[in-house]
Amino acid sequence: MSAVASALAGLRVVVSAGPTYEDIDPVRFIGNRSSGKMGFAVAEAAARRGAQVTLVAGPVALATPAGVRRVDVRSAAQMHAAVMAALPADIYVGAAAVADFAPAQAAASKIKKRDDRDGLVLELVRTRDILAEVAGHPQRPRMVVGFAAETDNVEGYARGKLARKRLDLIAANQVGREGGGFESDRNTLLVFGRDGSAQTLGPAGKGEVADGLLDVVERFWAASPG
Ligand code: CTP
Ligand code: CA
Repeated sequence: MSAVASALAGLRVVVSAGPTYEDIDPVRFIGNRSSGKMGFAVAEAAARRGAQVTLVAGPVALATPAGVRRVDVRSAAQMHAAVMAALPADIYVGAAAVADFAPAQAAASKIKKRDDRDGLVLELVRTRDILAEVAGHPQRPRMVVGFAAETDNVEGYARGKLARKRLDLIAANQVGREGGGFESDRNTLLVFGRDGSAQTLGPAGKGEVADGLLDVVERFWAASPG
């Protein structure tokens, strides 16, 4: 870090990271492919810049970054509650891969396969969109940053989410491309701003990409009304 004081020093930053697990029964769940590394890197980089960081983490195998307050959750509903409890904040970064659908009800005991059964139909219901709710919250953080994981039409879908969810920035990952994603330690992010700006961060280590993202956040922070 440079000797110049960061614009993030003293700010309250909430970061969500990792997947969520939606239980089907006591031994099974529906989850997303996410290691949590990108969100943890953002939390670590923000703490290093002097921010007061709350990291709401889904089930991941990662150590808590230095100086970060960590809240562990499992399901999308728990992540929603933990994020809302962490408000008010100055900046929200939604890096978690939140399940879009969860079983309508988790079975109390293990679902058996049984010989009279050829298949199994699970009823799924939509989860709440944490990011969109934070952006529409009466105590909206001055900056709301989303992530988007896309396999195709990355810019189109990412810009659509930016507008629809009323975000300040969205960082898009192209899933299945060289140089990043999921379990990798490296990543490439395409960052789109509400001002129409676009930039590419990486391919680089997730720590470096996180720092690049925070540089963009600092520029937007300086330019945003508050
Ligand atoms: N997100 C969230 N709560 C959800 C679903 C998504 O907060 N229930 C957030 C993610 O943390 C991410 C952003 O929304 O910052 C975009 O997630 P993504 O899965 O790419 O987009 P969706 O809006 O869920 O749309 P789709 O999965 O259909 O592309
Ligand atoms: Ca989704």
